[in-house]
Order: sequence, then C-alpha cells, then structure tokens
Amino acid sequence: MSVPKICVVGSSNVDLIAKIPRLPKMGETLLGRYFHMSCGGKGANQAVMAGKLGARISIVTKVGRDHLGEIIRKNYEEMRVDPQYIFTSDETSSGVAPILVDDEGRNLLVYIPGANMLLSPEDVEGAVEPIAAADVLVCQLEIPLESSRRALQIGREKGVRTVFNPAPAQGLSRELLELCDVVIPNETETEIITGMPVESEQQIAAAGSRMREMGCAVVIVTMGHRGVMLVSPEGTQHIPAEKADAVDTTGAGDAFVGSFAYFLAQGRSLEECVRRANRIAAYTVARVGTQVSFPWAHEIADLLR
Ligand code: RIB
Repeated sequence: MSVPKICVVGSSNVDLIAKIPRLPKMGETLLGRYFHMSCGGKGANQAVMAGKLGARISIVTKVGRDHLGEIIRKNYEEMRVDPQYIFTSDETSSGVAPILVDDEGRNLLVYIPGANMLLSPEDVEGAVEPIAAADVLVCQLEIPLESSRRALQIGREKGVRTVFNPAPAQGLSRELLELCDVVIPNETETEIITGMPVESEQQIAAAGSRMREMGCAVVIVTMGHRGVMLVSPEGTQHIPAEKADAVDTTGAGDAFVGSFAYFLAQGRSLEECVRRANRIAAYTVARVGTQVSFPWAHEIADLLR
C-alpha cells in the first residue's frame, strides 16, 4: 500500500486545558486539579491524527507572529507535517482555546480564532499544489467559510476526495455541500444545518438523509457514546461506539475525522473506515489532552488489525 497523502486546510491553536473536579458556578473560584498546554485546533488535530497513523500530511493554516505561533510551528515540525503552507499574520495573535475538563471527561471550550480567521481564499488559492497532490482533502469551519469553500472547490476540480467536518456549526448552502464527498457533523451540527430534531437515532437518521438531499454524497453523524449514523447511497447504518472509560472527550471528534480520512485514503470501505475510526476515538477519550492523546500507529497495531 502506498503512503496515503492528506491535505488539511484549517485551524491551528494552542489549547490551555484545566482539569477540574466539576464545572464552576458563575462567579465561583474553583480549585483545579492541574493545567496542561498543548497544540490543538480542529484542522491541526485532524492533520496530526492522520500523520500519527502514517499519512504524509500538508497543512494550509495561519498563525500569528508570536510565541504561540512558534509553539504551533515546532509541533508541526515534530509531527513531520509539511510546513510550506503555514502562513503568518502580523495583524493578530495565534489561535488559542481555553478548555475546562471535569472529572466526567466533559468539556467547556472557548475558541479565540486570531490568525485562523485571516486564512483567506487567496491564501488557499496559493496552496493548489498540496491540495491537488492529496488523496483526501479535509476541511472544517474554524477558518472563514469562504476559505473552506474555495479549498473544497479546488479539491473537487482536481479530483481529490473531499471530507468536510462542519465544526463549529453554521448554516450551509447546497452549493458548499455539493462539493463534499463525505460530511462528518456531530448531533448539534446536524441540527443546525438541517433545522431538524436530533434526539432519537431515528431523528438523526432522518436528518442525515435530509443532508444528503441538500447535496452531499455521504453523511456520517458522530453521536459520542451512541456511535455513528452512516447515511450513504447504499442506505442508513447505525454503527455502535467502542466501549471506553472517558476521562477527556476533547478532540475525540477530530481523532475520528483524521483517522477516517487516513483509512479512506488507504482505499477502505466506508463502513470499515468508520469502525476503525471509532476504535481510535475510544482510545483517545481514555486519555487527557487533544493531540497528545492520539495514538501512533505502532501503539495500536493490535487495535487496527
Ligand atoms: O475539537 C477540539 C479542538 O477545538 C481543540 O483542540 C480546540 O483548539 C478547538 O479548536
């Protein structure tokens, strides 16, 4: 099997993670358990996840000319991500995300995009080369919508398979959804995009079908511990989650998307990609942190067999 090539057009942040016993009340000073700083951002997380499994990764992203930007660049270097399309802004800071994680592994997250929101469609147009060279292109929404749209458009023009994780959620046009081979929203994103209820699995399946009618070929709704709803031209399939003792669910969705893209680039079937990505997501929630909780291929050889 040749080495899968993946291009991610998306965000890079530094995550400031505070582990706390429970969520504080308004105005309360709460004693935390510990603090941990690491690289995050949905684009970066998905790129690093695919890279840790063995993909060759290009990232198209923007950081500030600041200390956090240096940390982000160094992390990409350590993860052997091609640094050629990491743009730098003099106008604002790098992206940052303060995150609170409680003892049940649930999180509260604030995203301050900084330079991520200055990654322009023109920047993306300057990165046609890595997009065209990829087996799979992955985009999210922590950069301007117009920049994600341009990337997906270039991917489609160049015959690259396109995977779109519409997070954080916003209303999306048919024109954009038609550029996606696979869309991977969570329940909230599905509700916002379709305007349909997403409480029961039946409702989620119906909303997934609606999203297909809105233009995307395949919809994979991630539902946390309830598993995944795969809605494709072949029909609708509920694939249960793997069991996990969750200590931190932050970045689990990104681990799912990044590993899914890797398996897709390997030429595996949709169902197999989902089942394998489910196993990886379960592995990450049992560990604290975002990228640091993602496994290297050699750590999960058994799990992937
Ligand atoms: O999905 C988790 C990510 O969302 C974090 O790494 C944080 O940076 C935010 O972008």
